[in-house]
Amino acid sequence: MIAQRKKLESVSSSSSIALILAATLAATSASAYPGGTPDFQTDAIPYCAPCHSSTDESALAGAGERAAKEVADRKHIATILAGEGAYGKISEEERQTLATHIKAVDANSTVTVEYPPQVAKGETFQVTIKLTGGAGPVVGVALVDRAHRWYARAATHAGWEIVGAPTIIGPDGSPQSDWIEKRPERFGRNLTFVNISGVESDAAAGSWSKSKVIFTLKAPDQAGDLPLVAAYFYGTEKASPLGYETHPIYGKLIRGTYTGKSGRVKFSSAHVISVR
Ligand code: HEC
Repeated sequence: MIAQRKKLESVSSSSSIALILAATLAATSASAYPGGTPDFQTDAIPYCAPCHSSTDESALAGAGERAAKEVADRKHIATILAGEGAYGKISEEERQTLATHIKAVDANSTVTVEYPPQVAKGETFQVTIKLTGGAGPVVGVALVDRAHRWYARAATHAGWEIVGAPTIIGPDGSPQSDWIEKRPERFGRNLTFVNISGVESDAAAGSWSKSKVIFTLKAPDQAGDLPLVAAYFYGTEKASPLGYETHPIYGKLIRGTYTGKSGRVKFSSAHVISVR
């Protein structure tokens, strides 16, 4: 064990590794979480996004003081206004403008669920998740059982079955399948989470992308009242000209960086569908 750790230490101190790491991080900041989840074709749920800020304190109900600390105003916008890290490289006036842009992104990023209030036992039906805003280039949405960042589970745990691949309608109005088709068909594409691409909102111009996802659900064979909530994952900084710098290779690099707090988790209202 100790020998192994020594070996690791000596390897990680070598400068070539450090260079590779730096390059990987730079690439990551352009293509991983900022940029959504191009590579995880599975049931993502909100706990995976600890870096993201909450849009509402209730998203961490029961977590005490932490719930308030996770809200965007404190976790993200306050760090901009205080000029922390790379936010200190722009003037105070620009920081105010960036904060105003980001608040506009939050106000215009919405998630709603259209669903039948009552279905029959074993019935197959559709729910439509409508999304607005999000900085882009992608946003994500998950069907979960409760509006809580730490305790939500995939909606299938509540008793819903997902039938077939969700239909993703991008901001241009066309169906998208590139993301979901990366998952081998034999594994089943009936996911509770999807990534939507082609999103581009602009807070300075006041233009907001709109997209939707249609899930086909099957009700269980027993009667009951089952919860259904949508969790919306989006970014904010790329929607403001002050929120990023353009790198010649990696494109838009956000000011708050990869480990910054500019991502969001926003829940729809907590709905209940009655199975009779
Ligand atoms: C290391 C911190 C971190 C983690 C962990 C993380 N994210 Fe993010 N994510 C970010 C940041 C920062 C942004 C915001 C980009 C912006 O402001 O434009 C973001 C944005 C996003 C976006 C919108 C894409 C974009 O470029 O704006 C999606 C979708 C997303 N995250 C999903 C997830 C999911 C799903 C998970 C869990 C598997 C996750 N994230 C985990 C930091 C993280």
